[in-house]
Amino acid sequence: MATAKKVASPGHGILAMDESNATCGKRLDSIGLENTESNRRAYRELLVTTPGLGEYISGAILFEETLYQKTSKGPSMVDVLNKQGIVPGIKVDKGLVPMANSNNESWCQGLDGLAQRCAEYYKAGARFAKWRGVISIPAGPSMIAMRDTAYGLARYAAIAQAAGLVPIVEPEVMLDGDHEIDRTLEVAEATWAETFKYLADNKVLFEGILLKPSMVTPGAENPNRSTPEQVADYTLKLLTRRVPPAVPGIMFLSGGQSELEATMNLNAMNKSPNPWHVSFSYARALQNSVLKSWQGEEKNVAAAQQALLKRAKANSMAQLGKYDPSVESADADERVFEKGYVY
Ligand code: 13P
Repeated sequence: MATAKKVASPGHGILAMDESNATCGKRLDSIGLENTESNRRAYRELLVTTPGLGEYISGAILFEETLYQKTSKGPSMVDVLNKQGIVPGIKVDKGLVPMANSNNESWCQGLDGLAQRCAEYYKAGARFAKWRGVISIPAGPSMIAMRDTAYGLARYAAIAQAAGLVPIVEPEVMLDGDHEIDRTLEVAEATWAETFKYLADNKVLFEGILLKPSMVTPGAENPNRSTPEQVADYTLKLLTRRVPPAVPGIMFLSGGQSELEATMNLNAMNKSPNPWHVSFSYARALQNSVLKSWQGEEKNVAAAQQALLKRAKANSMAQLGKYDPSVESADADERVFEKGYVY
C-alpha cells in the first residue's frame, strides 16, 4: 500500500521503459542504431540519469535486462533510480501468444514460475510489477479472450502482491479499428467488469494495486478525432462506473496517441477532483521526442534528457490539471499509432 501510494503521488507518474528486446530494437532502429545490449543500455542509461527526473516521475518500469544492468559509470540502473526517488518496477509477463479457437486474439503467458521470479525481482530492488494483456475491439472481442485476460491479470496480481510487489493491472483495449467512441466505452466497461470480478475472487487487495487502462477514444482508423474534453468525459464515465475508490492510482498508457494528445487528454481528466490519482504510465508519449533528439550521439545526450524532462513536466502538470499547451511545438502532435502493436 505504501509503494502504491508513493507511485501515485501528486504531480507524478510512471515512465514505462520496459520494452522487450525486440521492441526496444524497433525504437533503436528508428534512429539507425543496432539492437545490441550496449545500445539498449546507453539509451536506458540516458533516460534514468536525466537530472531532476524524480521531480515528475515516481516510478519506472524496467525490462528484466535493465533491472540487473549497470550503467557505464558503475552504479546499477536500480541504484540510479532510487537516488532519484523513483521506484523501480519490472515487467513480469512473458508476452502474448495466439489463442486457439478465438477470433485471432491472444493470451498472455508468464504465470508458471511467477512467484519465484517475483521473489527474485524483489531482491533485485523492484517494488512494483506490470503485466499487459490486450483486448482487440475489431476481433469482437470474444468472451474467452476477455475472460482469460481478466483471469490472468487477477492471478498475476495475487502472486505479485504475495511477493511484496504492487501489481499494475493492464488490460489494454487497443486503439486498432474504425469504431466510434461509444463502442470503445462498451468494450472497456465489459473488460473492467470481468477484471474486477476476478481480482475480487482472487482476494487481491485493491489498496495495493495500480491500474493501467487505455483512454476511451474512437478507434485509431476512425476519421473522427475526439476533443480532450470528450475523451475525459467518456474515460471518467468508465472509471466511475467500474473502479472502486479503494484503488489508489489510475496510470494511463498512451497507446499510440501523440505526445500532445496524451498530455491534453490527461489534463482534461484532472480538471475536477477524482477519487483516485489519475496519471500517466507512458512509453511512446514520453520517449518519442527523446529518441529524435538523441539519434544515438553522445553529444546529444543532454538535449535528449531535456526532451524527456519537458514531456515529464508537461504530464506532471496535466496530472495536476494545470498544463499549458501553448509551450509545445508542432512535432509533439505526431501520432505514433501502429496497427497490432506488440510490446
Ligand atoms: P505506451 O504508452 O507506448 O502505450 O506503452 C505503455 C506500456 O507500458 C504498454 O504496456
